[in-house]
Amino acid sequence: MLTQEQEQLIAATAPVVAEHLDAITQRFYPLLFERYPQVKPLFNQAHQADGGQPRALAGAVLAYVQLRHDREKVRETLATVVGKHVSLDIRPEHYPLVGECLMAAIGEVLGDAVTPEIAAAWEGVYEELAGLLIELEAHRYREFESLPGGWRGPREFRIAATHQESAVIRSFVLEPVDGGPVADHEPGQYIGVKLTIDGEPVYRHYSLSDLPNGESYRISVKREPQGRASRHLHDAMGVGDTLSLLPPAGDLTLAEGDEPLLLASGGVGQTPLLPMARQALAQGRRVVYLHAALDAEHHAFRDEVAALAEAHPERLRTVTVHESGAAADPCRPRGSRPAGKLPARGRPLLLRWPPGFMTAVDRALAELGVPAERRHFEHFGPSRPLDAA
Ligand SMILES: Cc1cc2nc3c(=O)[nH]c(=O)nc-3n(C[C@H](O)[C@H](O)[C@H](O)COP(=O)(O)OP(=O)(O)OC[C@H]3O[C@@H](n4cnc5c(N)ncnc54)[C@H](O)[C@@H]3O)c2cc1C
Ligand code: HEM
Repeated sequence: MLTQEQEQLIAATAPVVAEHLDAITQRFYPLLFERYPQVKPLFNQAHQADGGQPRALAGAVLAYVQLRHDREKVRETLATVVGKHVSLDIRPEHYPLVGECLMAAIGEVLGDAVTPEIAAAWEGVYEELAGLLIELEAHRYREFESLPGGWRGPREFRIAATHQESAVIRSFVLEPVDGGPVADHEPGQYIGVKLTIDGEPVYRHYSLSDLPNGESYRISVKREPQGRASRHLHDAMGVGDTLSLLPPAGDLTLAEGDEPLLLASGGVGQTPLLPMARQALAQGRRVVYLHAALDAEHHAFRDEVAALAEAHPERLRTVTVHESGAAADPCRPRGSRPAGKLPARGRPLLLRWPPGFMTAVDRALAELGVPAERRHFEHFGPSRPLDAA
């Protein structure tokens, strides 16, 4: 609990810290990896290189300083962070390491301006925020562990089947090595994957691309030409190989309802939307499934979506665009209506990856009059506003 004097110090120094926050977080990560190399594999180095993760951390700390007296709002704001942490098995013992390096970075960047009193006040804020995250994460770990088929920490899974979905996307069906059940995820969620590459652990997030079935999960991975994890999965792993999974997480999921839905994705961003489309159709909703692919070769899940469209000719409309120029709608079953005006009055509109695509669709929807609270999007990386992508 901060003293009144510390509250005042935080209020007085927050603008200075905000001004230098980019420099502080950019110093913080090298310090953390230097002092505690054991945590480095948890972080995707591509997110460090493009500045996305430092900006996300900085944003969260600042948002907390502004909102900390509104507990409900704070919890809402931290939900995405908690999800990312839980799916990477971040534990209470990690927090002092981060706190120490954050304070050291603040000291290095702000120099003598950081008096011992100011340092103590910021340490107090960090401890408060860390305590809250630890509590929220403990709750999520317990909740998932108590589900039938739930677990805690890394659980070993075996690749039971693979399926090439396009020139660059391959699905992996994963079954637990222990033969037990697997807990249901919510369509739209992702899972933490821990691989071992050249003897080192490597962590990544992958969306779950099918509905829950109690026995296995499916992820669908795009091979990045220079990507460490995706190349390893594509080039070195196959049926029978094992990897570890951490609990599923993610808040961009469907609430119960009957409003029509537009699901829009580009490329591999389709993965979480496929199970959401299935779920929405099972709820009796009308769905427009808008997908942009590079060309026919890169158009993944064509048969799966076509089968869905056959099964729900009245309620599922697919609209497919090939960036190569050819107008394409191979998912539309014979007899269904051609793609027309999008249902601007429909409720949630969910956009997935890549950023340029999401920005363009979001702007178009805004111009059609769809209010911001009905347009939802998610990055395949640290959260940030669409126009910052
Ligand atoms: C919530 C969520 C869901 C996701 N779902 C999916 C999914 O369903 N399917 C999917 O395929 N992916 C998904 N991703 C993305 C996935 O987690 C990985 O980021 C992706 O597979 C790339 O990882 P990689 O190890 O292959 O590539 P990385 O090694 O991380 O490299 C990615 C790119 O960054 C470049 N790069 C790497 N390190 C550096 C560096 N130090 N400096 C400069 N450039 C660098 C590489 O050259 C490459 O182009 C999701 C991500 C999130 C956060
Ligand atoms: C108060 C302390 C912390 C805050 C405010 C914080 C904040 C954040 C934020 C904002 C994100 C990005 C979420 C998103 O994707 O939108 C994130 C991701 C992450 N955090 Fe934390 N975090 C804290 C502590 C920790 C600790 C102790 C660890 C463990 C070493 C950790 C490891 C990670 C990792 C590995 C990611 C994913 C990074 C990636 O995408 O490469 N964090 N955190």
